[in-house]
Amino acid sequence: MTTVAPRSVDPEVDAVRHHYEVSNEFYALLLGPSMMYSGGYWDPEETLTGALDEAQFRKLDLFAELAGAKDAARVLDIGCGWGTMLNRLTTEHGVREAVGLTLSRTQEAFITGLDNPRITTRVESWADHTTDEKYDAAFCINALEHFVSSNLPPRERTKRYRFFFNQVAKALNPGAKFVLHTMTAEAQPMSRELLADLKFLQRSEFEGMHIPHLHELTAAAEGLFEVVEIVNERESFAQACRAWLERLAAERDRAVALEGEEVVARFERYLDIFAYTLEDKFFNNFRVTIARRG
Ligand SMILES: C[S@@+](CC[C@H](N)C(=O)[O-])C[C@H]1O[C@@H](n2cnc3c(N)ncnc32)[C@H](O)[C@@H]1O
Repeated sequence: MTTVAPRSVDPEVDAVRHHYEVSNEFYALLLGPSMMYSGGYWDPEETLTGALDEAQFRKLDLFAELAGAKDAARVLDIGCGWGTMLNRLTTEHGVREAVGLTLSRTQEAFITGLDNPRITTRVESWADHTTDEKYDAAFCINALEHFVSSNLPPRERTKRYRFFFNQVAKALNPGAKFVLHTMTAEAQPMSRELLADLKFLQRSEFEGMHIPHLHELTAAAEGLFEVVEIVNERESFAQACRAWLERLAAERDRAVALEGEEVVARFERYLDIFAYTLEDKFFNNFRVTIARRG
């Protein structure tokens, strides 16, 4: 079943909803019970689909620790998906209030269904989010890739990333940590096949998506945040894409019954592109831990 939703007035919002307002039933089939749509941490002996949930929870627990979120009063998750991190923070890490931002109304409905009184979800862009009560920690897990449009010229993109880090800094208490997982691009020559695949990603599936270069992010955060740690974990996202592809292949008929052949084929193509571009080291997936300057 496809969710039919009226178009918003903002093309960037529509571009995000095109992908994230496919039905929650379809996403449950793709992502499994953990409902995480980002890289995971597998142990070498584990199978991708067999340990998908463990790999995701392992990542979330490490992120919570890196951000010093244990027993925090208030924590922010920017681009919160189906709320798994918000739920984990409040049930396993003693967080009293977890606030999530998403542009997807179907994700918000799913999180409401978790019925967790410590979670607040807002269908709101990071660019519009303000808070009187500051946060003790923040996360942004494989969502930044949607935040700055590839249609902007490079100088304007830099300004937009600066605005993003400014927004996060303003929302955090001094010294509070921000843990970010994001794909980045390497400056590398592109084959014709890769160019066609990137065109599909940017024009059809994730319109206007810009995968940044690491230097764009570090420049944009300079002076606002102190770098604690930067780690390239490209395999974490490549493995997750392969796990989702395996799940989709195993349940293809049901996926087609839910969303139709066209949607399933789109997902197969985009997941394969991300998997191989990460494996070929064209894209990275960086874990960045930074602390708001006091
Ligand atoms: C790949 S999903 C990741 C979700 C979640 N962090 C996870 O790891 O499962 C990207 C998320 O970013 C959200 N998003 C995209 N653009 C946004 C924006 N401008 N403001 C807030 N959230 C946004 C989407 O709605 C979606 O929830």
